[in-house]
Amino acid sequence: MALTYAVLCMVSVFVAGATATQLMKWQLFRHRDREIHGVYALIAGTYNGGTTTDLVSTLDAYVQETLGHSWLFIAVGPGGSVLGGNVHALALEIPQGWSSVDGGRLGLNSGTRYRLYSGIVHGKVRLVVGMKFRQLGYMGRLVQTSFEWAFVVAVLLAIVGGSLIAHRMQRRFDAVRETMDRVSRGELGARVPLSGRNDDIERLSEDLNSALDRLADSVESMQQVSADIAHDLKTPLSRLKMTVAEALEKQESALSVADELQSAAAEVDQINRTFDALLRIAQIEAGARKASFKPVDLSDMLELLDEIYREVASDAGQRLLVALPPEGGAGVLGDRELLMQMFSNLIENSIRHCPAGSTIRCSATLYNDSVWVAVTDNGPGIPESEHERVLRRFYRLDKSRTSGGTGLGLSLVKAVADLHDAELRLESVYPGLMVTVIFGRRTPAAA
Ligand SMILES: Nc1ncnc2c1ncn2[C@@H]1O[C@H](COP(=O)(O)OP(=O)(O)OP(=O)(O)O)[C@@H](O)[C@H]1O
Ligand SMILES: [Mg+2]
Repeated sequence: MALTYAVLCMVSVFVAGATATQLMKWQLFRHRDREIHGVYALIAGTYNGGTTTDLVSTLDAYVQETLGHSWLFIAVGPGGSVLGGNVHALALEIPQGWSSVDGGRLGLNSGTRYRLYSGIVHGKVRLVVGMKFRQLGYMGRLVQTSFEWAFVVAVLLAIVGGSLIAHRMQRRFDAVRETMDRVSRGELGARVPLSGRNDDIERLSEDLNSALDRLADSVESMQQVSADIAHDLKTPLSRLKMTVAEALEKQESALSVADELQSAAAEVDQINRTFDALLRIAQIEAGARKASFKPVDLSDMLELLDEIYREVASDAGQRLLVALPPEGGAGVLGDRELLMQMFSNLIENSIRHCPAGSTIRCSATLYNDSVWVAVTDNGPGIPESEHERVLRRFYRLDKSRTSGGTGLGLSLVKAVADLHDAELRLESVYPGLMVTVIFGRRTPAAA
């Protein structure tokens, strides 16, 4: 790249120089031709077709004033006789109009070129006026020399600057490559060093680093999940083993083992439910369901949930209150079944983890273009330090260990919220917990 730019830079300086020199030459030539023609017209003006005396004396005056042969004059009379001038070559050989000839052909120094204008005055006198080819003149040479030097400097700068830039770029790309190499060898903590400059390589490095952050995060959470699954299944499996051992013992004494078989079946069901929930979360996180998103009216959904859970709550000695936006229109684009599951999980949590006498409020509110759905209770709440952790798979507060849940409910809530690009907020409301799901973009509700 540096080389390309260097060559481009040199070519531009060269083209600019050549164009400027050419333009200047052209201007000088035009000026000189005008000068020659001016003198020609002046001399020709002294001849009126009659006597040639005036013409000859003017011609002589010009010849007198000319130093060396910087100007040439020839006049040939009607009869072919030379009337005057400072060069006695064959004027008739010189073509009509403008021409450029070598001095040698005119009996002068060869190697010096002349610009000539030849014409016939009043159809009788042939008049030739010429001027030595002054190349570019002082200004022209100055311009040409400056451009030649500019070109040399540009070449040097392009070579030195280009290789410096190339070297620095190479070093920075090497750092990126080295980092990727370390990552591919399993060193997930490696990051591309940032230079603090504001350029493309810096932005690329930042993007790479945040991609690596996400990669490290997901590898870590995968490891965490495997450990959690193993840990969480240990208890039901050992309970199952104990039940089976009891059943075997009873069978030896020829007692009925129906109870043990029943509780073994229940244990297996619970393990199954755990796996189902895990698979469901994994499936939601994979994001495939996003393709089938449709407009969903959250007001309708909360009304339905009110119907479903009002009884359950009152059985638990609790109150469920639902508040909907009076103007309606709490529509979002989403997966109806998953959204239903998400809000069910939140309401079930409040019912399960709050004591009798608690109140559970569900509300949908419209703010500009967003829809906020909040499930609030006045139960024991979750300490602020645990707000992040309860979203992890299997994580339950110590006091809920005996409540029979799997600890996957909020993980699924989080996965569904993420799938809908919705923000999930847990806040303590003293007493109690408020969980808010904020959908950024409202849509017209489904018909
Ligand atoms: N409304 C709430 N009030 C108090 N604590 C809560 C509330 N909701 C959740 N928690 C705490 O957060 C933990 C995690 O909740 P989560 O829904 O993930 O699991 P769970 O309810 O225990 O089991 P399940 O998978 O059956 O829902 C719960 O065990 C409980 O300790
Ligand atoms: Mg739950």
